[in-house]
Order: sequence, then structure tokens, then C-alpha cells
Amino acid sequence: MAMKILITGGAGFIGSHVADAYLAAGHDVVIADNLLSGSADHLPGDACLQRVDIAAPEFDLLVERERPDVVNHHAAQVSVTVSARDPGLDARINCVGFLNVLQSCVRHGVGRFVMISSGGAVYGDVHQRPTPETVTPQPLSPYAIHKLTGEHYLEFYRREYGLSSITLRYGNVYGPRQDPHGEAGVVAIFVGKLLRGEQPTIFAYPDQPAGMSRDYVYVEDVVRANLRAVEGDAEGAFNIAGGAPVRTGELFHAVQAACGTTLTAATGPARPGDLRDSWLDVSRAERVLGWRPEVSLADGLARTVTYFRGAA
Ligand SMILES: NC(=O)c1ccc[n+]([C@@H]2O[C@H](COP(=O)([O-])OP(=O)(O)OC[C@H]3O[C@@H](n4cnc5c(N)ncnc54)[C@H](O)[C@@H]3O)[C@@H](O)[C@H]2O)c1
Repeated sequence: MAMKILITGGAGFIGSHVADAYLAAGHDVVIADNLLSGSADHLPGDACLQRVDIAAPEFDLLVERERPDVVNHHAAQVSVTVSARDPGLDARINCVGFLNVLQSCVRHGVGRFVMISSGGAVYGDVHQRPTPETVTPQPLSPYAIHKLTGEHYLEFYRREYGLSSITLRYGNVYGPRQDPHGEAGVVAIFVGKLLRGEQPTIFAYPDQPAGMSRDYVYVEDVVRANLRAVEGDAEGAFNIAGGAPVRTGELFHAVQAACGTTLTAATGPARPGDLRDSWLDVSRAERVLGWRPEVSLADGLARTVTYFRGAA
């Protein structure tokens, strides 16, 4: 059934791919984005972009006018490092902005809400790996604290107002359109630097010389999870990740191979808020949503490098 879907942050890396997929599935798509880190160049021609801050009163006017069936919430301050430097900035977007979005949903009869959280951040350095959704999160950065706070608010809105919602806790997403100059997104940063002939840096803790481990997932797999999220009425949190841990050093070698270069990487100290290890259990998504990651790291990296070569 075709729906009207409002995507916050739909001009960003992941949100723009989700917009493409919703449009291809026949849905009507409205994008709300203030272009803080997104770009209008990412958008398909038939998506309608509204330049608005999710924390501003104008956002409510947009929801009142458009009356979407579904709100898919990708807009966020996305950098753990920035959140550690400026927790207030992160809270303004990821908490206050988020609440502004939820209030508008309730006021204007939105039927379903898709919240994007971070499995790579909210669990912290828990010992249970792969980490299932049932583990008690131990968020270590303001970014993670605010994402988790958002999840708690969703529970409140479900109980208080009956807002149907699902939370997708992403692993480390990578692929075309990711910002190679950002503070987050190690794959894009490595690929961007190697293609420009520059030396990337692997941030590592002294007792983990091969780098921290992360659970990488290709953006196309993430997009399929967003399609499943609006097709059914599953509630609660779902890990959406590749389901395997990869150390930054290993990732660097895979990117090096995909770029066909012998340039090496420097090493630098871990940054504030950096998790040591992340590996997510994706079996709940498989059981309930019928979703599993399908694109291997090698294939995903090859496609990402092809994109960045074309974009250079
Ligand atoms: N990239 C990852 O690996 C990853 C992992 C876990 C979770 N996430 C989450 O996925 C979502 C999308 O991240 P991304 O990697 O595509 O980053 P991105 O920076 O490309 O996308 C974020 C989008 O939100 C927009 N935005 C920011 N503040 C806004 C505001 N106040 N009002 C309106 N729009 C605003 C930006 O302009 C941008 O288009 C975020 O919620 C992020 O926290 C990403």
C-alpha cells in the first residue's frame, strides 16, 4: 500500500538512500532536512525537499501541511567526537529536536514512527558479544546517551499516545554518498584519503594495536531494513548490522586492496568516547523482520570505491 513518508535527515548519506528506496516502492516522499551535513545533490528529482530544522517551530507546520502516514527519523548530529566536545549541541538536535518531531507526530495523527539509533554506540563496551537487544545499554558518549534517551521517549509516546514505532540500531554503516571529510564514517574517510594519495590514521588504544573492532553494514542492507520497518507493525529495537566484528587495521587492508594502493596508514590515539569493540547480534531482525545482511564487506567496499572514483 502506497504511503506518504516524511524522512527527516533525508538529504544525508543514509536517509537519501532510504528516500530512493521508498520512492522506488511507490511511496510519496517528503524530506525535512536543514542540510547541516546533508546535501541536496543526494536527492532523487522526485523527492520533495523542505529545508527545515527539526528543532524549529516550522517543523510542526510542515507536518500539519503534509500529514504523513509515517515519519522516518534519520536527522541527527552524527559525530560521537563532536558530542563529547559539545554535549549541549548534541542534546539540542538529538533530544530537543527529536521531541519536537514526536510532538508533531502526535498532534497531526502520524500512524507510525521509525527511529534511527546506534547499536555501535548505545551498548557501550558490554562484555556480551555479539550483543543482543536485551543487553542493558551502557552508553559512553553524549551521542549514545541522547540516542538511548530518544528510545526511552519512544516508549513513553507508545504508552501515552499509542504511537506505533520501531527503532533500528545500526552498526557502522558505509557506502556511496558517505561524507569522506566528516568526523564519522571511517570507510569513506579511508577511501577518500587513499584515492587522493593521502595517508589515513588508524585510531587505536595502546593495548589494541590492530585497532578497535566494529560491525560494518553496507547501506543497501540498511535500506532494506527501512523498507521492512514500514511494511509491518513490529515494535521495539532491532540491531541492523553486518553481524561480524572487523578491526580497523583489517578494514584498512581491505580498503587498501579495494583501492589498489600500497599507501600505508599512520596510527593515532583513540578519541574521547571511542568504544573498544562492537559486534551486534542481528538474529532478532532475522526472526521478526525477515531481514539479514546480504552484502559482504569485500563487495560493499568495491562498490563504495567505484562510487568515490566516479565522484572524484
Ligand atoms: N553512519 C552510521 O554509521 C550510523 C550508525 C548508527 C546510526 N546512524 C544514524 O543514522 C542517521 C543518519 O546518519 P548519516 O550517517 O546518514 O549522517 P548524515 O550526516 O549524512 O545525515 C544526517 C542528516 O540529518 C540532517 N540534520 C542534522 N541536523 C538537523 C536538524 N537539526 N534539522 C534537520 N536536519 C538535520 C543533516 O543535514 C543530514 O542530512 C543518524 O540518525 C545517525 O545518528 C548512523
